[in-house]
Amino acid sequence: MEQFDVVVLGAGAAGMMCAIEAGKRGRKVLIVDHAKAAGEKIRISGGGRCNFTNIGATPANFLSANPKFCVSALRRYRPADFVNLVRKYGIDFHEKTLGQLFCDSSSKDIIGMLLDLMDQAGVVLRLETAVQGVEKDGEGFVVRLSSGPVACASLVVATGGKSIPKMGATGLGYEIARQFGLAIVETRPALVPLTFEARTLERLSPLSGVSVDAVVASGKTKFREGMLFTHRGLSGPSILQISSYWREGGEITVDMAPGVDVFATLKAERAANGRRALHTVLGEIVPKRLAQKIVEDEGIAGNIADCSDKVLARVAGVVNAWTFKPVGSEGYRTAEVTLGGVDTDGLDSRSMEAKAVPGLYFIGEVVDVTGWLGGYNFQWAWASGWCAGQAV
Ligand code: FDA
Repeated sequence: MEQFDVVVLGAGAAGMMCAIEAGKRGRKVLIVDHAKAAGEKIRISGGGRCNFTNIGATPANFLSANPKFCVSALRRYRPADFVNLVRKYGIDFHEKTLGQLFCDSSSKDIIGMLLDLMDQAGVVLRLETAVQGVEKDGEGFVVRLSSGPVACASLVVATGGKSIPKMGATGLGYEIARQFGLAIVETRPALVPLTFEARTLERLSPLSGVSVDAVVASGKTKFREGMLFTHRGLSGPSILQISSYWREGGEITVDMAPGVDVFATLKAERAANGRRALHTVLGEIVPKRLAQKIVEDEGIAGNIADCSDKVLARVAGVVNAWTFKPVGSEGYRTAEVTLGGVDTDGLDSRSMEAKAVPGLYFIGEVVDVTGWLGGYNFQWAWASGWCAGQAV
């Protein structure tokens, strides 16, 4: 049987980083993936330009049943460490917004860099290889692969979450965790568009394609970023962000004119230019199609001078504090990440090793650590992969 010091399951962001670091330390490393190519999610990420980190990443940007778990890894491997690698490879990048770093050219530059680093570290990459099962074997593990069984001292599970099954996501990591007695924090799609029930959808369908700067809130959590009306419901960065916090049955409140007191603005306009149509005035605060729709839905016709304070307050309420209950989300089909995963209680936060199973490691998205939108999830993949790479 082939022998390796380390076998990594999953050649995504976390797995490749771990393999590189372990290889650099002289470990004999095999990394396997059932996909045709390594780093497929990196390839499609950030609209093909990979938002590879966020320079402002702190533990506060991550969700987990134990919010402290990610602190050690994020401290040991920082965004600047990954940026240094990217610079060393001469990959040009830019900050798009809010600390989000994107490749200038293509996410393939990042994959190329990782493949080259794996090559330099002597890592063996085996693609289109199915994992049929794993077993404990004395101090180590035997991994049954479609190419035959392999033995290893350390087994690293980096198979990612459940999002986008079409791209090869499976529940293998969770199954291995359960097999070895680790708990799973319930998983759910996150960073995902939210959907409306049929009646609301029909009413709002004319707005499909309209986008607006918005503050979107669920309970005490708020995000200010773009929001987009779609033919299924709502999307855009602010909605994806809030989807990680929202739960079925909960309300979402949206301010579609952040920083503008719409009631006061409408009243002032009524006093100054009472002969203008309400939708025209409102169309200077929010996109015209949205303004038109709000005025129509409220059943208001005529000039702003004809509108009472009560009517203007109602319209302002829709703009500054539109409150609704989504019916659900678009699910794993379009979710960027999976919330929940391998319970961090069972893992060592410095090495990612399972406390009860020496030699077994879980890294990246399969772990119950989920970042906000904006490069945070890759930073977690790099950091957790790097930490395991020092320990295997
Ligand atoms: P990842 O999913 O990358 O890798 C897991 C690997 O395991 C895959 O290669 C898969 O084929 C393999 N695998 C799974 N099951 C297997 C099995 N049974 N046998 C063998 N192999 C198996 N994040 C970010 O920070 N910035 C961004 O710009 C984006 N953009 C983005 C866009 C889209 C469309 C999505 C879906 C996601 C993002 N993300 C993102 C999230 C980011 O892609 C994600 O968090 C990381 O890729 C997670 O890295 P992992 O290595 O943990 O899993």
